[in-house]
Amino acid sequence: MPFVSGPSRPCHTGGPDGPKDPARSGERLVGHIVFGPVEIDSPGREVRAIGLGPMAVDPDYQRTGIGRQLVEQGLRTCRKAGYKVAVVLGHPSYYPKFGFVLARTHGIHWEHEVPGDPFMVMELQAGALAGVRGTGPLPA
Ligand SMILES: CC(C)(COP(=O)(O)OP(=O)(O)OC[C@H]1O[C@@H](n2cnc3c(N)ncnc32)[C@H](O)[C@@H]1OP(=O)(O)O)[C@@H](O)C(=O)NCCC(=O)NCCS
Repeated sequence: MPFVSGPSRPCHTGGPDGPKDPARSGERLVGHIVFGPVEIDSPGREVRAIGLGPMAVDPDYQRTGIGRQLVEQGLRTCRKAGYKVAVVLGHPSYYPKFGFVLARTHGIHWEHEVPGDPFMVMELQAGALAGVRGTGPLPA
């Protein structure tokens, strides 16, 4: 299982029965992505979500579409695994193309103040963030 894992309840893509692994070029590992379970602390309930990150692509292979495949394939796997919400702390110029939006537009904030608005969320199931607001991501 080469490239998608988490601290617990991991989502995997790849493996002998999984889709083609975009993180490999021949025998060389050229990309890496990790997803791990987190929670958003919303009044009255804790919302289970999947956190994306960290991810990286070998500089020799960047801008060739590997990162896009890792994110899209990984999110598909997480959706199939039952996750309805994804979160990421990352470049606001990179992740919106996959459907992530600034978390604060949903009234969801990270507990730490950081420059550059890096905290983003995405519904993996339509409506999953309806009524959700609060603080995240917290370790699940
Ligand atoms: C960010 C990173 C993973 C992107 O991987 P990649 O394989 O080069 O990305 P892709 O080739 O799949 O590019 C996907 C899209 O994002 C764009 N893109 C790539 N890197 C970008 C960046 N740093 N900022 C903004 N957009 C970027 C590409 O132009 C492409 O857009 P398009 O599909 O509209 O043409 C890679 O640059 C990297 O490893 N960077 C160093 C580590 C890092 O910053 N990790 C992310 C931490 S949040």
